Amino acid sequence: MTPPRRPLGHEIVRLEEAPSTNTLLLENEAWLDRHGLVVLARHQTAGRGRMGRTWSSVPGAQLQFSVAVHPQVPGADVPIIALIAGLAVAQAIGDATGLRPELHWPNDVFIAGRKVCGILAEAKPSAAGALRLVVGIGINCLGSAADYPLEVRGLLITLEEAAGRPVDPEALLRAVLGRFDALLARLDAGGREELLAEWRRHARLAGARVRFPLASGRVTGSVLGLTPEGFLRARDGAGGVHTLVSGDVEWL
Ligand code: BTN
Repeated sequence: MTPPRRPLGHEIVRLEEAPSTNTLLLENEAWLDRHGLVVLARHQTAGRGRMGRTWSSVPGAQLQFSVAVHPQVPGADVPIIALIAGLAVAQAIGDATGLRPELHWPNDVFIAGRKVCGILAEAKPSAAGALRLVVGIGINCLGSAADYPLEVRGLLITLEEAAGRPVDPEALLRAVLGRFDALLARLDAGGREELLAEWRRHARLAGARVRFPLASGRVTGSVLGLTPEGFLRARDGAGGVHTLVSGDVEWL
């Protein structure tokens, strides 16, 4: 019988500074082999975002960590893990502040139209071929958007700004890990449909205006919904319907 899984965050590697917690975890086989191990940094000097973008770090003001996740579900359900990471953050922020964040596919978390959290999920199989994920989560907790570089300032919000009071990053870490663990357990138990329905309830979907890449270039269109696999369906201006698996979708 498989032994019960250890909870996410059973072991936390705490660093004052790291280039990127995702990169560190991906490069350390011994850490990556431990489901639930967390690498947390007060500051990242080379934080990475989705689609090769940079993630801006303000020392001590954000919750920035990566967690090793060993999926126990069939391959087709693995993309759902990246979605429920965002749901876990939205739930934890709700628990801590009473606010109701909005999810933008695949897993950005927004409050009042501005981004409060970004998630970068990356995969690296073990030598034996078992899938291992690194789920990296960055949440703007303390201070204000004015603390961030000029080029991203207008796009983001901090929890302190949104809630009108400081939100302790350490308490939020525990809340996010607890929520994520509970959602993973439901996925393992076959709850994908119900989890996708819950994700949808936190999301801006049908009718939302988006810009997305096609082979011919970027187009503007509107969201139709999620596929059963957790991919995004959108219609372009000429009426063509597209399924976006991992593309660079910009919410307008
Ligand atoms: C995005 O918004 O495009 C994703 C941002 C992900 C940022 C987090 S912070 C912790 C972890 N380490 C990284 O280098 N990136 C993720």
